[in-house]
Amino acid sequence: MSTISPALLEEVRARFAHVDTCPFDGPRVFFENAGGALTLNSVVETSARMAAIPDNQGRDNPAAHALVAMIDKAKADMGVMFNAPRGQFIVGESGTELLFRLIRTACLGTPAGRVISATVEHPASRSAAAKWAEIAHKPHIIVAHDPATGSIDAEAYIPALTPDTQVATILHTSPVSGMSIDVASVASAIRAVAPDCFIIVDGIQHAAHGRLDIESYDIDGYVISPYKVFSRHGYGVAWLSDRLAALPHDHLLNAPGEPWELGTRDTGAYATFSDVVDYFDWLGGCVSDATDRRARIVAAGAAIHAHEETLTNAMLHGTGNQTGLAGMPTVTVIGGIDNPRREGLVSLAVAGMEAPDVVTQLRTRGIRTHTRKADHYSGNILDPLGMTGAVRVSLCHYNTEAEVAQFLQAMREITEAAMP
Ligand SMILES: Cc1ncc(COP(=O)(O)O)c(C=O)c1O
Repeated sequence: MSTISPALLEEVRARFAHVDTCPFDGPRVFFENAGGALTLNSVVETSARMAAIPDNQGRDNPAAHALVAMIDKAKADMGVMFNAPRGQFIVGESGTELLFRLIRTACLGTPAGRVISATVEHPASRSAAAKWAEIAHKPHIIVAHDPATGSIDAEAYIPALTPDTQVATILHTSPVSGMSIDVASVASAIRAVAPDCFIIVDGIQHAAHGRLDIESYDIDGYVISPYKVFSRHGYGVAWLSDRLAALPHDHLLNAPGEPWELGTRDTGAYATFSDVVDYFDWLGGCVSDATDRRARIVAAGAAIHAHEETLTNAMLHGTGNQTGLAGMPTVTVIGGIDNPRREGLVSLAVAGMEAPDVVTQLRTRGIRTHTRKADHYSGNILDPLGMTGAVRVSLCHYNTEAEVAQFLQAMREITEAAMP
């Protein structure tokens, strides 16, 4: 397996829209990938082509048959990319909506017992678990994460687990700290005490970083937002285990197979996800000799991870003649400097400056980042650290070391100008 060479990186960048220029603001470095990754050109083309088709699925005509075939192909593609040979994939309104739907179904469809979540989770899963646990008369236990690492280990869940734990929610990667959680080890700790617990995972922030492997997690639900993994806005994707899918859920009366999808599906949404899987497959073929599709996707995930690690290490420890964030005396990095759980994201604070001012100053220097405030989205990570805000710098594998150097130069100027 090889990594992403400079020549391959050029090819990678050519496959994405607006890679170095914002259509509203001109040239910029895009370090706001956690808010929404760049879109594949193939997704843009597919979206336009599919938007023009008037036909519906389920009719006896060539157009309808073609649409059904596209949906079937996309579901098979998702199975390979997520490594999910069992269960089923559905699309919904958004990642948040699907998390609510899966968690609601699990809370309402199980006997008395508890629901477990963790403080590190995005409010999408925490809010759904809080609301539906209460309605289902189940205690909702929220396990504390480790503010120092911005993550949580399986051991932290153990004191909260009881044999009647019916539902558990797990975050795969935090959009605030950027740190991942070992889903398989948390699920295994849960199953050791509550073997039949319905385990639902928020993979929304993890998916763009590759290395998805549902078969190895032993879970019941996995949700992503495709616009955060190179597709477009307007839909979410969920995988459900057969036993979660079998719980009572919303569907049309007497509908054969009790489908989970509500109303007519957007074939274009499915088709664009096939484009995403094709992209991972192509990248895997460039960095490995693998002939099997899944093996190429695994190779793509490894190359993505390695390239992102090179970029975040450059950001933290410096590149060329640019000092890294670790060498800037007024900068604090959330989750510590050398944290092996990091997935392409560095959140930081600058002493003596408000985070929104740093984001504005980076913007005026052509670098797009985002402020995370201690609000209902990010207070769970920032409050325990005593922080009112942070600057989120989020990368993807199509970013370059030259972009990191440009960012570090800007940070040096901003932090030096702010020094007393
Ligand atoms: C981990 C995580 N969960 C949930 C969400 C909400 O996703 P969406 O707005 O696509 O529904 C986000 C968005 O940033 C996220 O990062």
